[in-house]
Amino acid sequence: NWTPAQIIEDQIARVREQVGDRHVLLGLSGGVDSSVVAALLHKAIGDQLTCVFVDNGLLRKDEGNQVMETFSQHMGVRVIRSDAEDLFLGKLEGVADPEEKRKIIGNTFIDVFDEQAAKIEGVDFLAQGTIYPDVIESAASKTGKAHVIKSHHNVGGLPETMKLKLVEPLRELFKDEVRKLGVELGLPYDMVYRHPFPGPGLGVRILGEVKKEYADILREADAIFIEELHNAGWYHKTSQAFAVFLPVKSVGVVGDGRRYEWVIALRAVETIDFMTARWAHLPYELLEKVSNRIINELSGVSRVTYDVSSKPPATIEWE
Ligand code: XMP
Repeated sequence: NWTPAQIIEDQIARVREQVGDRHVLLGLSGGVDSSVVAALLHKAIGDQLTCVFVDNGLLRKDEGNQVMETFSQHMGVRVIRSDAEDLFLGKLEGVADPEEKRKIIGNTFIDVFDEQAAKIEGVDFLAQGTIYPDVIESAASKTGKAHVIKSHHNVGGLPETMKLKLVEPLRELFKDEVRKLGVELGLPYDMVYRHPFPGPGLGVRILGEVKKEYADILREADAIFIEELHNAGWYHKTSQAFAVFLPVKSVGVVGDGRRYEWVIALRAVETIDFMTARWAHLPYELLEKVSNRIINELSGVSRVTYDVSSKPPATIEWE
């Protein structure tokens, strides 16, 4: 018999008591969990909160600007944005292995975050968007009970390098509860009900070596796919949908000419728990529209494919 408003009231009181007049730092990713923490803490402690948003160059189209607009411009949250695209892409040069890429992206994130944090004076607390399933998962992996397939870097890691006390107001909540809190706190519906996006971002949606050229094409293709899913009323019928960049070249024709360009794969799944998933049976007309738009609007793409693999055995991401 809880309501989102009550939980918010409770958590605001708890945070104020824990933090007092001290300063809190939060890594804001634009994802649901850290966004809700930002909104909640802003309400609880206002200017005692500073957020650090790291743009790693592997975000979706316009994502960085949207995060700044929502939090900095609209809500008046203090957000430091670090544009670190060159740094991330530099470190990823020549690296093709998925787990290696994850490690590099995770470690570079921590480096950039630490560097920004060091500039802020008098910080005693680190806020995190840890939710209940993260707590369970991380406890299980520590005791070796769970088979950890991929190095998710949402829990742990960060505080080890910094002697900060943790503020984790979502620790007891499930995702659907977090979303309801977000809406109650006034966050945009589209931000709160957006599909999940992995920490390593487009870094694991560009197969093999990551290059800026690939990321730029992928961002556009992905944006077209997501826009058409919304237009067709299919976005919220899928649990996760995205484009994948395949670094292989394929032949196509334009007018009298021949083109030899990259391939984009589309992935859309329906799932409850993300442990198993069924590929979404999108209407052919929708797939046709997305495919035509991607090939016509993006000169670097000559072919679009649709992924019809279920999980298991195929994972949701391609890497
Ligand atoms: P898979 O590909 O394992 O994905 O079927 C299951 C869910 O986890 C997300 N995912 C990640 N999230 N860091 C993250 O924060 C990662 O390295 C990572 N790998 C996969 C994936 O997007 C899906 O929602």
